[in-house]
Amino acid sequence: MREVTFEAYAKINLFLRVLGLREDEYHELESFVVPISLSDKVTCRPARKLSLRVAGQDAPLPPGPDNLAVVAALALGETSGFPDGAEIELEKHIPVAAGLGGGSADAAAVLLALDELWGCGLTEEELSDIAAAVGSDVPAMLAGRPVLARGRGERLRPARVPRMWWVVVPGGFGVRTPDAFRWWDEDGGPTGPDPKALVDALAAGDLAAAAPLFYNDLEEPVFTRHREVAETKRSLLDAGAVTAIMCGSGPTVAGLAAAEADARRIACGFPAAIVTCSPP
Ligand code: C5P
Repeated sequence: MREVTFEAYAKINLFLRVLGLREDEYHELESFVVPISLSDKVTCRPARKLSLRVAGQDAPLPPGPDNLAVVAALALGETSGFPDGAEIELEKHIPVAAGLGGGSADAAAVLLALDELWGCGLTEEELSDIAAAVGSDVPAMLAGRPVLARGRGERLRPARVPRMWWVVVPGGFGVRTPDAFRWWDEDGGPTGPDPKALVDALAAGDLAAAAPLFYNDLEEPVFTRHREVAETKRSLLDAGAVTAIMCGSGPTVAGLAAAEADARRIACGFPAAIVTCSPP
């Protein structure tokens, strides 16, 4: 039987600044999204009905219509006029509600896999429009390369980065994205500086200049409510990380290592740590 498989890569935000709350209740933002080698695996097979099976360390996960993978499949079927079924198998490795974009990455991989399986033949732009309707982070994950994201996350510009090694430390609990943004509102949260210097340093491959400019406006609101996330960041720096940054809306913290061997050494001090690199 024919099947189509795509890796769904997680992401780290090297920079995330919130510019304000919009009338549609989303937040206007600027974010530098970089895929990392940590990934889920999405396999789609022909079937009469749509179904989702989830396996892996982070199962159980809602397999029903709330799962972004299912939302993506339904959106593709509706927009493309290919309302076929499919059996979607999701092998989870990316921690859930961790700020690593796992759900969005799965949704993006489902769009690519079903476009191929169903023979929809949609353009990159058409797929990206469907991705934006599924979730703010999905277009960036669909791009599968470093991007500078604007708007609510759906307006993308390709970017370049040097190879980076990371020690990713999940929080062991989840933070809902809407909560992190609401906390930013409640706190009258900060807005970080213009990312141009960071974008230029990364494009030039100058990690020493770029690392001190990593920034995430959602850190303070999350740190205030979950002190342990701030402590993880402190511990990563104490253990020798070049810098450390909370991923998206958290609570995962990513420590940048000078090289793979340093990442493996630092990870020894964190039982749940995952060593990964970007781009994948
Ligand atoms: O687009 P998505 O469904 O992933 O967003 C989930 C929630 O996260 C939104 O309903 C909103 O509360 C918050 N969000 C936001 N601003 C963004 C992206 C997400 O406020 N740019």
